[in-house]
Amino acid sequence: MKEFCVVGGGGHARVLVQALHRLGHRVRGYVSLRDEGPVMGVPYLGRDGDVSEVVATLPGLVALGVGKIAIVTPRLAILEAYQAQGLQFPVIQSSGAIVHEGVSLGAGSVVLDGAVVVTGSRLGRACIVNTNATVDHDCRLGDDIHLAPGATLSGGVEIGDRCMVGTGASLIHAVSVCADCLIGAGATVVHDIVTPGTYVGTPARRIA
Ligand SMILES: CC(C)(COP(=O)(O)OP(=O)(O)OC[C@H]1O[C@@H](n2cnc3c(N)ncnc32)[C@H](O)[C@@H]1OP(=O)(O)O)[C@@H](O)C(=O)NCCC(=O)NCCS
Repeated sequence: MKEFCVVGGGGHARVLVQALHRLGHRVRGYVSLRDEGPVMGVPYLGRDGDVSEVVATLPGLVALGVGKIAIVTPRLAILEAYQAQGLQFPVIQSSGAIVHEGVSLGAGSVVLDGAVVVTGSRLGRACIVNTNATVDHDCRLGDDIHLAPGATLSGGVEIGDRCMVGTGASLIHAVSVCADCLIGAGATVVHDIVTPGTYVGTPARRIA
């Protein structure tokens, strides 16, 4: 049993509190810009606008409970601000997730229920492999990437920093997606994407 605090008080924070409880860990509380009241019974510990002011009240382990529905989010900046104060972001693998041997996950990355990460894959920091998303063998993912529920990466896919792959989107084997792309829900990526932007449809085409 380890003791965590959670950064964030919204939906993704609730998911992480649940995952940590089911792994047998204790969550002392959460920090957030707003007091949302107790989150799944977990109390508010303070405002995280200035990390140095709240850090003394926190246990040493942090879960990054700020979600990501756009390319630009402060997730990596939050992680680095807390790390600079000596706190750590362990990888969280939910009890309903499968992570093969030979997988590497960076600090603050989470793999949620029903998700599978297959051998040989490497994910950077602050990634979310959301419910039922799959990362097949030998994929390479950068930092701060969100694979939304049901997203499917076939073997050998590469994705650059800060991308989001929407709900149910699929990437065929060995395609690469450059940094700062948003792949829309249900899209099918069949060619390499080399220009940052938003892509939707089958085959995926750029709309912004
Ligand atoms: C792709 C996306 C970012 C576009 O959002 P947006 O910039 O607000 O764009 P709009 O909703 O204005 O749509 C622009 C056009 O693209 C179409 N479009 C939007 N999303 C689409 C999608 N996923 N697939 C196909 N077409 C899509 C719209 O129908 C619209 O077409 P129109 O101009 O002919 O009416 C968004 O729709 C999306 O799919 N986001 C992923 C959400 C997700 O997976 N969340 C998971 C959270 S855990």
